[in-house]
Amino acid sequence: KYLQVEGLTQECRQLILSLPTEKGWVASHLHQYQGFWHNTRQLQGVLTCQNHFQAQDPDVLLVTTPKSGTTWLKAIVFALMNRVQYPNPENHPLLAENPHVLVPFLELGLYIDSQVADLTTFTSPRLFGTHLPINSLPDSVKNSACKLVYLCRNPKDTFVSLWHFTNKLRINNMGDNSLEETFDKFSRGVSLCGPFWDHVLGYWKESLEKPQRVLFLKYEEIKEQPKAQLMRLAQFLGRPFTPEEETSGAVDGILKLCSFDNLSNLEVNKTRKLSSGEDCKAFFRRGEVGDAKNHLTPHMMEKLDQITEEKLHGFGLTF
Ligand code: A3P
Repeated sequence: KYLQVEGLTQECRQLILSLPTEKGWVASHLHQYQGFWHNTRQLQGVLTCQNHFQAQDPDVLLVTTPKSGTTWLKAIVFALMNRVQYPNPENHPLLAENPHVLVPFLELGLYIDSQVADLTTFTSPRLFGTHLPINSLPDSVKNSACKLVYLCRNPKDTFVSLWHFTNKLRINNMGDNSLEETFDKFSRGVSLCGPFWDHVLGYWKESLEKPQRVLFLKYEEIKEQPKAQLMRLAQFLGRPFTPEEETSGAVDGILKLCSFDNLSNLEVNKTRKLSSGEDCKAFFRRGEVGDAKNHLTPHMMEKLDQITEEKLHGFGLTF
């Protein structure tokens, strides 16, 4: 059935036949490629991106696990990198466009299906988003000096956010996914770009080995210390805030512009759809730390904590 998905190349069809496949969370199937799970359409995007994307040294890649705050990170980095061009928060592109339009995804946007993106109109430094695991990044990324900003979030809130999001994407007559069934899949690693823990670990190790190349951020840390984390991000990207900017409120201005309350209440984010089909409003739900406890049983919470402990603790990574 999944081979009937439109736009698959012969290469992708052949590959799929050799891959472990499971029923996915929405309508599509998930295939395990290079150790990680992608749905059929996105797998084609991954291959096209791997075959065609040419990274340039000044590029910045915003890499995230799905539902870890990608939309927020895209908004923040776009505002940060373009703050000279758009100093006025009252007349800013983020008021008129969703962050996913301003910072497009590679495999889920520019290279979706077998489309080869024309990137000639992008001005340097180019900003792109991706959920690709580190070992699946295109060779041109591995061979360039482009910087990677990695964002993740504690697995309990990530799972709950993903469960809500994928339920919104299921068409009416499909009904919601059961929490138990999807929890089982997530725990086994069968989720979009899962296993979650392997995704995080790959970038964690790289950030320790190459701190100038990979900045490792957690959603909870940005929530807790937004100003300090934004300044760390600016420093990493070679665009530190000047003392004048700090006193004139530039840091707070970006945080306010990109806040959940501001972005989620904009007309564009309440009413428009992305070209990939999702409602912009699906990317804004509660935007809080710890919502998992309102949905998961204590046993489920413990189970995710236990997997995290087993898989990450030895590497000095905790959530
Ligand atoms: P919740 O479902 O827990 O509310 P992604 O952008 O990676 O798809 O992640 C979506 C999650 O980030 C959602 O989490 C969403 O509400 C939250 N989010 C979106 N915009 C945000 C913002 N500006 N600040 C904080 N959280 C935000």
